[in-house]
Amino acid sequence: MLRVVVMVSGGGTNLQAVIDGVEKGSISNAEIAGVISNNKNAYALERAKNHGIPAQCISPKDFADRGKFNEKLLEAVEGYMPDLIVLAGFLVVIPPEMTVKYKDRMINIHPSLIPSFCGTGYYGLKVHEAALARGVKVVGATVHFVDEGTDTGPIILQKAVEVQPGDTAEILQRRVMEQAEWKILPRAIDLIANGKVAVKDGKAFVLEE
Ligand code: GAR
Repeated sequence: MLRVVVMVSGGGTNLQAVIDGVEKGSISNAEIAGVISNNKNAYALERAKNHGIPAQCISPKDFADRGKFNEKLLEAVEGYMPDLIVLAGFLVVIPPEMTVKYKDRMINIHPSLIPSFCGTGYYGLKVHEAALARGVKVVGATVHFVDEGTDTGPIILQKAVEVQPGDTAEILQRRVMEQAEWKILPRAIDLIANGKVAVKDGKAFVLEE
């Protein structure tokens, strides 16, 4: 059974998709060992509690410097003895030592088709604002392993979504979540939990479906 820790900052709709996947069985061989938020007001914490999943907040605001926060964050993660860390809308820079320790064992959901609209400064609604400003007709979401860069790790799954005339960033964000994120994040976890994802030469491969 793969022990999964989900890290969140906000509403937690992706966390909910993962909880539902585990409860309904579309994610097999996996359990959510814990949820960590950097924001004490994140609704994601409520979602975890509603499903009896251990959850806690580790906020940078409660620490004198980033080094101390990073130390505590890593300690909290390790307390759950995870096999896989899932960044589901976690908007804090990951401590470098965590990236090294969990190489090929930490994944992130990003609301664009990487390498478009990703990297520093592209998160949440900003991604969709940038896509609309550029006038692209197809957007989407990506699940990738986390490496030392920002949104640069091996890509596991992607799903495209069409932009519609009259879209606002909020409408587009919701469509990308519904049609792409809530599908490919649980799917990627299921694939990993069942040994169907390999990484070679900096690229991820889905073995057979
Ligand atoms: C999601 O759209 C996720 O892809 C994005 O934050 C949102 C969190 O929503 N993540 C990033 O932008 C990471 N760079 P949620 O809390 O409802 O899952």
